[in-house]
Amino acid sequence: MASEKHSVAVTCTAPVNIAVIKYWGKRDEKLILPINSSLSVTLHQDQLKTTTTAVISKDFTEDRIWLNGQEEDIGQPRIQACLSQMAVSPSTVRRLARKRRSGEEDLPPLSLSYKVHIASVNNFPTAAGLASSAAGYACLAYALARVYGVEGDLSEVARRGSGSACRSLYGGFVEWQMGERADGKDSVARQVAPESHWPELRVLILVVSAEKKLTGSTAGMQTSVETSPLLRFRAEAVVPARMAEMIRCVKERNFQGFGQLTMKDSNQFHATCLDTFPPISYLNDTSRRIIHLVHRFNAHHGQTKVAYTFDAGPNAVIFTLDDTVAEFVAAVKHCFPPESNKDKFLKGLPVRPAPLSDELRAALGMDPTPGGVKYIIASQVGPGPQMLDQPHAHLLGPDGLPKPEA
Ligand code: PMV
Repeated sequence: MASEKHSVAVTCTAPVNIAVIKYWGKRDEKLILPINSSLSVTLHQDQLKTTTTAVISKDFTEDRIWLNGQEEDIGQPRIQACLSQMAVSPSTVRRLARKRRSGEEDLPPLSLSYKVHIASVNNFPTAAGLASSAAGYACLAYALARVYGVEGDLSEVARRGSGSACRSLYGGFVEWQMGERADGKDSVARQVAPESHWPELRVLILVVSAEKKLTGSTAGMQTSVETSPLLRFRAEAVVPARMAEMIRCVKERNFQGFGQLTMKDSNQFHATCLDTFPPISYLNDTSRRIIHLVHRFNAHHGQTKVAYTFDAGPNAVIFTLDDTVAEFVAAVKHCFPPESNKDKFLKGLPVRPAPLSDELRAALGMDPTPGGVKYIIASQVGPGPQMLDQPHAHLLGPDGLPKPEA
């Protein structure tokens, strides 16, 4: 024990991912095993990321966690609910670490019994209705693994916090293979193409509502599995072929195919929500107007230039290519004129202002709905989790408590 290190601190960041083939439904609630495979695009962390510091120390007497500056009771049901079943408990990682270490005697003898302090912050408002749990759990899994010295696939650790979180462990285009085994060992995320693969691809998040959703994904998908025959059909008969086609479109950088399949899959996911009993509806009037706008925009151009996808909420995620961003943003501004904070309407990557042609305005044929879209975040495809080396990046001080500015 004399050589034992007193404490270790690591700080990591992890990205948000947006599914273009959706995950909806578990075949195992406890292990979080899905009924179908899914595929996502990892968003750039310059716009959306979670940062997590994990510190282990001989001096800590209990595990503690701070989320966005607020201490949460690590064992309370509220945290479990807030972070959608925080099954990524430090003990899971400790078990993995113990397993790994048992066969390797020469590892640093850092005690696995050390308690952990964790602090996590998002660089975007949690309340903005954006998928923060995927980035949060991926970051937690990554930070815990680093602080305890665990290597290997972290899909299971991240997945058990929130299923979609395993896809945030990689950058670029990521597949979550559903697997077949009852123990879930083959239910893993893997990169289909790196972030550099399709540099022209752009992502626009149209924030429609910052309100908390009525039905969380955990409860929602459970009811869908129990009641929706369409969901079963989707998982068994539709998704396998769509996964293969989507992977092909990504590899070939075929935007027409990618965009159309993305929209169809989002629509089918929301159809299964409506087929659920009692029904679930995540889209609102503004979401439906955005869908209409995208189809009118594409019809005007005679090709799929823009595609939408919606998760368990009304916010739209738009995929397009860099040469179309300015014109589409002009169309969004026309249909949803900003009500306030006009200069803050566009966040993230710069978008050059473009006029809306009379022809496109006429083709859209929509009366403006002021304030329907609150703001837009312009982003692109990005890398997976990162480890930050600089000690000043730590959210927790040497005493294991949040730094005042964190
Ligand atoms: O991982 P969860 O429990 O947050 O569920 C994610 C569900 C969707 O976002 C709607 C789809 C997906 O694949 O991300």
